[in-house]
Amino acid sequence: MKTIEWVNGKLRIIDQTRLPYETVYIELTDIPDVVESIKSLRIRGAPALGVMAAYGLCIGAAKIDASDKSSFIKQLEKTSAEILASRPTAVNIRWALDHMRTIAAKAKTPRDAVESLLEEAKRMHSQDVAINKRMGKFGADLIPDGATVLTHCNTGSLATADFGTALGVIRSAVAQGKKIQVYATETRPLLQGARLTAWELMQDGIPSTLITDSMAGHFMSKGAITCAIVGADRITANGDTANKIGTYSLAVLAHEHNIPFYIAAPISTIDPTLKTGTSIPIEERKPEEVLGFGGVQTAPKGMRVANPAFDVTPSRYIAAIVTERGILRKPYAQSISKALKPA
Ligand code: MRU
Repeated sequence: MKTIEWVNGKLRIIDQTRLPYETVYIELTDIPDVVESIKSLRIRGAPALGVMAAYGLCIGAAKIDASDKSSFIKQLEKTSAEILASRPTAVNIRWALDHMRTIAAKAKTPRDAVESLLEEAKRMHSQDVAINKRMGKFGADLIPDGATVLTHCNTGSLATADFGTALGVIRSAVAQGKKIQVYATETRPLLQGARLTAWELMQDGIPSTLITDSMAGHFMSKGAITCAIVGADRITANGDTANKIGTYSLAVLAHEHNIPFYIAAPISTIDPTLKTGTSIPIEERKPEEVLGFGGVQTAPKGMRVANPAFDVTPSRYIAAIVTERGILRKPYAQSISKALKPA
């Protein structure tokens, strides 16, 4: 099972809106397809979105009809802006597009640019797997043998190029021979936990229990949870972290019960241009996602809805941030700025 793949000159993704009921792969051949897939969460999860944005730009670049480099770059900027506008919170999209545009800028001709962009997208794709494995190794040290680990949303192979961030840490701890149990929250409203994380955990044979989001406090108060680990869509310079809606509530509950709350995210999820989490743009999604699920209406028609897809957890609730450059601890302003310095 591959989340995203470049095969025979085409971009192929697994349609995550159909999982776990059906395994359907779709081919994306133009920018409107790419943008639609991101907006409707056929592909999702910050690191996977970064890789998708990079390949998406390659699709756009290959269609540009320009004989000179400056008009090529102009049109590439337009394509990049279209992809960037797809979802606002996961900074990995911007990070990938910014990086790809520096690659295009170095090329001599439009043709060279198209070639080097694809080469770079492929490199970023395989690098994401290596990054996740490194994060997994560092993060596994935080998870004691016999732990019951709470996680939220989906941060596994489906949210990345492969292996996962928070779920990658859990996978690494299990691979080290530790006896780990997982509590996975279902993650309303789109059920990434129930549909995707539960599916990945079952495939791996990791002992796990699915709970609704609102059960977390109950299990924490009973002493059932050893630690919690989740992913991130954007981490600001002070360590404040935007992640799937519900993360903030879990972090506050964990604090109340003295349960360490960890974030696992690649360096590309850190946005040093923002000082604190209050500046992170939060995506507001369609009311239909809250009014029902899978085409079945569960709330009265016409009811007013709020549907922020993410919330921000202040860094004071975060015990550590696991990255591919090691485990970052408080004070995050210092540890983050050190981690961002080139090696
Ligand atoms: O709306 P989604 O499904 O894209 O949200 C995903 C999350 O919030 C993940 O926790 C985050 O992107 C990290 S994925 C490794």
